[in-house]
Amino acid sequence: MGGWLEGEVALITGGGSGIGRAVALRYLAEGARVAVLDRDAGQLDDLPDGVLTVTGDVRSPDDLHRAVEATVERFSKLDILVPNAGIWDYHRSVTRLTGKELSEAFDEVFGINVKGYVLAVEAAWRELVRSRGSIVMTLSNASIHTDGGGSLYTASKHACLGLLRQFAYELAPKVRVNGVAVGGMRTQLRGPESLGLQDRTLAASFAKNEASGEKQPPLIPLYDSSVEPEHFTGPYVLLASRANSGTVTGAVIPADGGIAVRGFRTPAGGAGL
Ligand SMILES: NC(=O)c1ccc[n+]([C@@H]2O[C@H](COP(=O)([O-])OP(=O)(O)OC[C@H]3O[C@@H](n4cnc5c(N)ncnc54)[C@H](O)[C@@H]3O)[C@@H](O)[C@H]2O)c1
Repeated sequence: MGGWLEGEVALITGGGSGIGRAVALRYLAEGARVAVLDRDAGQLDDLPDGVLTVTGDVRSPDDLHRAVEATVERFSKLDILVPNAGIWDYHRSVTRLTGKELSEAFDEVFGINVKGYVLAVEAAWRELVRSRGSIVMTLSNASIHTDGGGSLYTASKHACLGLLRQFAYELAPKVRVNGVAVGGMRTQLRGPESLGLQDRTLAASFAKNEASGEKQPPLIPLYDSSVEPEHFTGPYVLLASRANSGTVTGAVIPADGGIAVRGFRTPAGGAGL
């Protein structure tokens, strides 16, 4: 039996690591041909043969146009764009940063997380209209809820939700635009260089918590679900699938362990079941 994305061609930004890489591998397994743009050339080398890799920065319109052109040259078309490359702010509160730090970190976080999505869509929309394709954005629990980061990250991810809705309007009826609001995962997610956090990784934070032996109180209803990126890829397949999501645009699937149904007394009402 064929996969859900047989014959489709996808371009994923930030697909050298984390959820972008997991989506690239899953799309391949579903029968798609895949191109990845990432600024880290070393990580691109680790992708399987057959994946088209482009080294570039999502803040550069030229790099994104180069990635789209290379994809179409290699695979003859583009059906699915996954804007995904991003950085975190490591929960830096406005109360912990100077005005100068905030100013510089704002430009960096918004440059990658928001401008990077706008420019990816600008570079790809013509090909997506041609193929009547779709966009599946990586959103975040921070696109919807507070405290998934500091103010800069939260605002940047809320902005991506606005982009998703506006692009769903502007590109209808030919291109569907949807998103997956993923929750905490064990990835290499890094912080802003402007705050000296470019070498911190979320995976290291997970490892530190686990090594401390301190039992963390559960925060989300599905607190015993996985935190590995490959377990978040299903909704990306569903939303990209023409056969299964042909009537869906402007939608967001939260894949965050159920933050929206967290209770007041305990996160999960069925903990004793
Ligand atoms: N890890 C989590 O817990 C989590 C939770 C919610 C949302 N997200 C979102 O998932 C997305 C992917 O992050 P991840 O967790 O997989 O992290 P990751 O660091 O493992 O992967 C991100 C990739 O993006 C690339 N990248 C970063 N800046 C870039 C730039 N300017 N140009 C090109 N490539 C760039 C990195 O090199 C890396 O390969 C981000 O948008 C992030 O905000 C992650």
